[in-house]
Amino acid sequence: SQRKQIDEILASFELSEENLIEVKNKMREELEYGLKKETHATATVKMLPTYVCGTPDGTEKGKFLALDLGGTNFRVLLVKIRSGRRKSVRMYNKIFAIPLEIMQGTGEELFDHIVQCIADFLEYMGIKGARLPLGFTFSFPCRQASIDKGALVEWTKGFKATDCEGEDVVDMLREAIKRRNEFDLDIVAVVNDTVGTMMTCGYEDPYCEIGLIAGTGSNVCYVEEMKNIEIVEGTEGKMCINTEWGGFGDNGCIDSIRTKYDKEVDEGSLNPGKQRYEKMTSGMYLGEIVRQILIDLTKHGLLFRSQISESLRTRGIFETKFLSHIESDRLALLQVRRILQQLGLDSTCDDSIIVKEVCGAVSKRAAQLCGAGLAAIVEKKRENRNLEHLKITVGVDGTLYKLHPHFSRILRETVKEMAPQCDVTFMLSEDGSGKGAALITAVAKRLHNVGE
Ligand code: BG6
Ligand code: GLC
Repeated sequence: SQRKQIDEILASFELSEENLIEVKNKMREELEYGLKKETHATATVKMLPTYVCGTPDGTEKGKFLALDLGGTNFRVLLVKIRSGRRKSVRMYNKIFAIPLEIMQGTGEELFDHIVQCIADFLEYMGIKGARLPLGFTFSFPCRQASIDKGALVEWTKGFKATDCEGEDVVDMLREAIKRRNEFDLDIVAVVNDTVGTMMTCGYEDPYCEIGLIAGTGSNVCYVEEMKNIEIVEGTEGKMCINTEWGGFGDNGCIDSIRTKYDKEVDEGSLNPGKQRYEKMTSGMYLGEIVRQILIDLTKHGLLFRSQISESLRTRGIFETKFLSHIESDRLALLQVRRILQQLGLDSTCDDSIIVKEVCGAVSKRAAQLCGAGLAAIVEKKRENRNLEHLKITVGVDGTLYKLHPHFSRILRETVKEMAPQCDVTFMLSEDGSGKGAALITAVAKRLHNVGE
């Protein structure tokens, strides 16, 4: 029957406890590969050293600029940090658009655009002559050799500007500033958004040693013991590792749980074969999975009166905010139909029920997968310290986590089930990762100036 066909498709998104344990164990294996000298270069979970070696301690101070590129919004920020007993952070920021043609144009155009936005911001704030220290939140994989150097490994998510991969992003920014020849900046740190988020939350909570992004993309960073990071000199102390776990599964190790819809989404993306875990867990792709399922259901005469409309053929129509809206419990089905209408999809009442079920299956799997991955991280940290029980805080940000009505709860429940010996607190970052980037810049600046 029709219902049976629909149920079969939904069932292919269900994960058993066994599946989730397998994901956790595989993730753990890949984390280890990434840390080892012999396997680091080819590891799918890249485990990139960040050269951030501690969490904030309240002594950070000064006036900083921060850039925040790679999420839903591109921001330029001015961050004022006060230290001591009355420590505080004040921020002023402006959001700028990055048009699609710039995200996917040339590298020079992209960096010129960024510098144009900085210029506008400095003008707006009236601080053009100031030569402030700058922290650059750049939410893509970078191979770093120090806190102020980072070669872009490869673009992810919606970016595809030419001539950037393999290049140092700080150099590219400096050159663009030179080309413009209008103001000067002191670029002190390049920071992944996970690291910025961890630092933002770490400013309030010293137990925060993990940063999680569940947004456009999906990624985690955490504080690792130096002695376990074989690719960096030294065995004393700790360093934050940007896992780039979005690439988990790129060697086929989770293919058994990928559906044909996941494969279609991957093939239609800007980076086929790459970031397979990210494509099952993050905002940029969940709507695409839903769309592929709806197309299939329509082809089989189970939806939309068998009519595949122009909208349904359009990539990216189901943004995170729509999915979140459709899945909201308080929403009447009539309103679901209204949302679908807005997206150009004419639905019957039965259609709207099915669409809601499809969204639910896809987002639930995403939250569970993310939870199983996070369980691998907290368990590793617990074992590192030889503890029976670990108490830890995860700093979190991202539109999927923030907007979706069920994602955060299912994520938390899954972590609890998969890592019962860890007591994990999730702390939402209210200030984005720019604040964290400024804190990192403050520390780097202080350490640097000591030697001068
Ligand atoms: C923001 C950070 O708060 O969260 C961004 O400042 C980051 O840098 C983002 O990329 C992640 O969320 P999204 O959903 O906008 O990708
Ligand atoms: C992508 C990027 C990663 C970033 C994440 C969240 O996975 O590769 O660097 O942290 O998206 O924005």
